[in-house]
Amino acid sequence: QQKHKITVVGSGNWGCAIAKIVAENAAANPDLFEEKVEMWVFEENVEIPQTSKNYNASNAGPQKLTEVINTVHENIKYLPGIQLPVNLHANPSLEDAVKDSTLLIFNLPHQFIIKTCEQIKGKISPYARGISCIKGVDVNSTGIHLFSETIGRILGIYCGALSGANIASEVALEKWSETSVAYDPPHLDSKAPTPQMTPSGSQTNLVEFQHKDTSGQISEVKLQALPVSYPPVDHALWKAVFHRPYFHVRVVNDVAGVSISGALKNIVALSAGWVVGMGWGDNAKAAIMRVGLMEMVKFGDTFFSATIDNRTFTDESAGVADLITSSSGGRNFRCAMHSVERNLPIEEIEKQELNGQKLQGTLTAYEVNSFLKKQGMEDEFPLFTAVYRILEGTMKVEEIPQYIERPPSRI
Ligand code: NAD
Ligand code: 13P
Repeated sequence: QQKHKITVVGSGNWGCAIAKIVAENAAANPDLFEEKVEMWVFEENVEIPQTSKNYNASNAGPQKLTEVINTVHENIKYLPGIQLPVNLHANPSLEDAVKDSTLLIFNLPHQFIIKTCEQIKGKISPYARGISCIKGVDVNSTGIHLFSETIGRILGIYCGALSGANIASEVALEKWSETSVAYDPPHLDSKAPTPQMTPSGSQTNLVEFQHKDTSGQISEVKLQALPVSYPPVDHALWKAVFHRPYFHVRVVNDVAGVSISGALKNIVALSAGWVVGMGWGDNAKAAIMRVGLMEMVKFGDTFFSATIDNRTFTDESAGVADLITSSSGGRNFRCAMHSVERNLPIEEIEKQELNGQKLQGTLTAYEVNSFLKKQGMEDEFPLFTAVYRILEGTMKVEEIPQYIERPPSRI
């Protein structure tokens, strides 16, 4: 039996926390996985700070981030203070990092993913499978798409999603949390595979590959030869990739529910941060979260009804649990809170506080608003619309309570 080779595409705060988990599991499951895990790093120059336990006189001065990670096993810029496994290899070459990998884990701020995928199109294993850990949605002239779907379409692979109540710094410190992994390749319930021999004599299964879009429409069908020598990529395999004693994984089929809640809760977390920054207290934050959750569910129902399972919002970590953690200690929440407290634009707080890490809620609020505007549905999602208007400066935080006030939908 051949072993799956794993590559993590991305090495930020969450990128490194997930890469740590995956590398630990690769080392612990030698029957399933190659021990060495590749991690693509967007290269930059850094200096090990004197406060790092990995600092010494011989490694002082500017160096490549990949060199630092590969020598002292710490991402000093994006996940400082966490020792990374020695079998995790930081690779500055995207093409080289993904070469021959059969499992690809995408973990970048969402604004960079399309360009990154385009760079490796046609250069990955034809039977690679993926998971997107990205929290965002892909809004373009054709509508709104899940990033798992966009990655799958560009690369011609099946791609699921991972999302949950997962503040990266807590997960990296191995504080217990749960997550949701969603994976639902259409061939699982379509035709049985046809065994075939390749010219080189190895055995493959010829299976139908279908690319299904958000509306449930199948946009591409092709035959794909899958080597029988690899352990099948199914729910059990993804659990083996991600589950740790401190990181409990539930694998489900609802890719839309897991992805959409992960993207939209970032918009809600911004408004939670603003009202806390105003000094309005926990009751106000709870009100924001109630309305936010309703809009998240309604958004899923309205635009992803073909595939979404509403139970994800309540029953899985990706739903209300992520909304709660993100509205307590997430970066979107904290930066929004400080922007009110310090009377500064949130972009300025992002620069001051995050040392190169990226907020996803601000961009997502703009993207979701441009989509809702096109649908003529801004009024149907008053909290999402209020967040957008506050960001663009045409509304004030003080106006939120009045603006989101709606008659109860049920008596
Ligand atoms: P991050 O916020 O730490 O962003 C920094 C990363 O972006 C660095 O790796 C940097 O090299 C990279 N980058 C900068 N410019 C780039 C470019 N032009 N091209 C490619 N990469 C570039 O990133 P993160 O925290 O790893 O977030 C990745 C995804 O995970 C996001 O969608 C986020 O919402 C999600 N997420 C984050 C957390 C968290 O707590 N950090 C938790 C769960 C999910
Ligand atoms: P932030 O990007 O706001 O930190 O959210 C982290 C997160 O997604 C926690 O689950």
